[in-house]
Formats: sequence, structure tokens, C-alpha cells
Amino acid sequence: MERIYLDHNATTPLDPGVLEAMLPFLRDFHGNASSFHAAGRAARAAVEQARERVAGLLGAQPREIVFTSGGTEADNHALRGVVELARGRSAEAPHIVTSSIEHPAVLNTVQHLEKQGCRATYLPVDAFARVDPQSVREALTDAAVLVSVMLANNEVGSLQPLAEICGICRQRGVPIHTDAVQAAGRVPIDVGALGVDLLSISSHKIYGPKGVGALYIRRGTRVAPLIHGGHQESRRRGGTENVAGIVGLGRAAQLAGERLARAAEAEARLRDRLEQGLRAAVPHMRVHGHPTERLPNTLTAGFRFVEGEALLLNLDLEGVAVSTGSACSSGDLEPSHVLIAMGVPVEEAHGTLRFSLGKDNTVEEIDRAIAAVARVVEKVRAMSPMYHDFEKRRREGASSRA
Ligand SMILES: Cc1ncc(COP(=O)(O)O)c(C=O)c1O
Repeated sequence: MERIYLDHNATTPLDPGVLEAMLPFLRDFHGNASSFHAAGRAARAAVEQARERVAGLLGAQPREIVFTSGGTEADNHALRGVVELARGRSAEAPHIVTSSIEHPAVLNTVQHLEKQGCRATYLPVDAFARVDPQSVREALTDAAVLVSVMLANNEVGSLQPLAEICGICRQRGVPIHTDAVQAAGRVPIDVGALGVDLLSISSHKIYGPKGVGALYIRRGTRVAPLIHGGHQESRRRGGTENVAGIVGLGRAAQLAGERLARAAEAEARLRDRLEQGLRAAVPHMRVHGHPTERLPNTLTAGFRFVEGEALLLNLDLEGVAVSTGSACSSGDLEPSHVLIAMGVPVEEAHGTLRFSLGKDNTVEEIDRAIAAVARVVEKVRAMSPMYHDFEKRRREGASSRA
């Protein structure tokens, strides 16, 4: 059975071109990028080339890029690093403004900072998972030290009106961070045009290796290091560089930039085919996320009367990999905080699947996935007391009207 992978927002496969770029640094060049001899200089040159490539994807200067162990560390670095330097600047507790639909890498970091005496505001979102820029303006207090609003949501793909939010932060002189882990490589990013001060990306969402990412820090933005150690990364992140990983991220960023327009268009076409096919084949389905201001590869849909986990497991048996709208992978079955923040009823949030497409998906795979979802939803609904009850009431309603 040919398996169909529709879970690219969870992670992407390693691009063969990325692997090729990394291999010499795993096999032949073992130098420490801080060493002065030839082996060290080769590693340093590769790290700096990767820095230029990552900066190129974001419209940044190479010296504004700090390599990290991934998106989670980049988010932690931005939030904790800004707050650390802001402490004690005013008599009031440092105030952080964020959205209620952030990834746990941001939400749990903000909660950690609250335990350490910070104040936080979690902005609501509308039914499309979008933050109203006015709510940012209203939330900002004199003690505000940082705003963090993600560029694209990982669960429903909605894009935020970030340039507008950045404009408000700039007027008020408050630095702004964005988690662009899902947006990078999928929508064009220009840190200058956006006006963002800090921006996180992760390699494994753009066909690079896992365990490496980067934080863009606009020149002049004050951020304390998160990891103390040697003088690496211009003293902004201690620890011997993960040279092969960084090289992989650099090549992935370069390829993502080259492919972006074409891949986004092709993925959007397939995603729309999937959406239309599912609408036609599966009754009682609702799409979540913004209809147009959305990542081109993401489709999140709620299927009434069924549990997403049952759908996911049955689809896996059919060879189709997707995600659910609950955090079951982390061991709890809480409905997604994103869907709840959007006002989706709890039962419906439980029956949600996320399909996230990638550059190698084909029309044939999408058509097979539509057929598989239709089969699986019908099978799982056939076992659902909620669905039988609904159908019974519908039939009774129809006969009493007849
Ligand atoms: C929006 C967002 N932020 C942060 C992360 C964490 O990135 P990493 O897996 O590189 O730590 C993810 C990963 O799923 C994500 O989707």
C-alpha cells in the first residue's frame, strides 16, 4: 500500500538536496566552527553560508540570525530573553501580550513567565482564528515589554494581520515577536516589510533536519541569551554549533525561497481539490480557519458525530496520515485550545482532522484520500450513537412534516 502523507504541519520529510548538503559535514568535515585551523574554518564558512541563506529567506541581514535547536528554543529565547532584560525597568510587573491560539512553545513559556511575576494578556480571536489589531492596541499597558503573535496558526492555518499589529507595537515602542514556524517557506516573509523585531523558524517544517531552527533578532533589539556558555553566535547562544544541522537548515531555506511561489500555488490547488471533494463526499462537515487568509497547504475540517482519534486511526489503517484537533499525542484528550478559542463547540472540536499538504503530494493521492475519508467517516458514524440519534430525529421530523 502506497502511504499518503498529509501531515506536513507536524513535520516534513528531509529534502534529498538538503541531505546531500549535510552529508559532507557528517562524514568528512568534522571541524569545530570555533577552531582556527583549516577544519574549523571549513565548518565556520559553512555555518556563515547557512546564515546568509536563512537571512535571505526572511529578508534579514545575516548578523540578525541566531541558530537554535528548533522553533521551541527560538520562541523561548525571544520571550525569556526580552523579559529578562526588561525586569526592574519599571515598578510594575513586565507585561506580555500574546494570543490565545499560540503554539505551546509560546503559551507555556508565557505561563512560566507569569509564575515568575510577569503579567500576561491572552488576546481572543474571531471565528476564523484571527486577532483584531485593535485588541492589541487596547491591551498594551505602560508596563508592556513584548507582544508575541504567531504569523500562521499550526492547527487551522489562519494568517494574522501581522503588519498592522507590528505598526501598532512600533507606535507604542513595544518590541514584537512572531512565531513563523508554520509560515516560513509557505508564504513570503520580509521582516522589513512586516516590521517585526523577533521571528522564530524551525528547519523540520521546511524539509530540513529536526533539532535546528533560528531566531531573527532585528539589529538593536535587546534580548538576553537563553543558553549561556561559550562565545558562539556572537555570545547570543552558547554551545558548539550543530554544523550539519545548520547547513541543512541553510540549504532548506534556500530551496524554500526558490520554490515558494510555485509550491504555494500547487499546494493551494490540491488543498482546494481536497476541500471540494470532501464537501461533496461527506455530509455534516465544516471547514475551520480563514477562507482566504490561510496557509496554502492547510485544511482543517470538523466532522460531526465522530471522534477525530477514531478517524485518524482508521485513516492510518488505510495508509493516510493526518492529525486531529485534540492534543492526544501529548497524552491528554483535551479539545484543541485553538478551536475552542474560535468558538467551535467542544463535541465538534473533538471530531476535527487537519490535513496539511506538502510539495510532493499528487492529484492521485488527494483523490484517494477523499475516498478514504468518506469511507472512514461513514464507518465510524455507523458506530456512533450520536449519529443514529440525529438520523432518527431527522427521519421523525421529516415524517411529521409529511
Ligand atoms: C507554530 C509552531 N511553533 C513552534 C513549534 C515548535 O518547533 P520545533 O518542533 O522546531 O521545536 C511548532 C511545531 O510544531 C509550531 O507548529
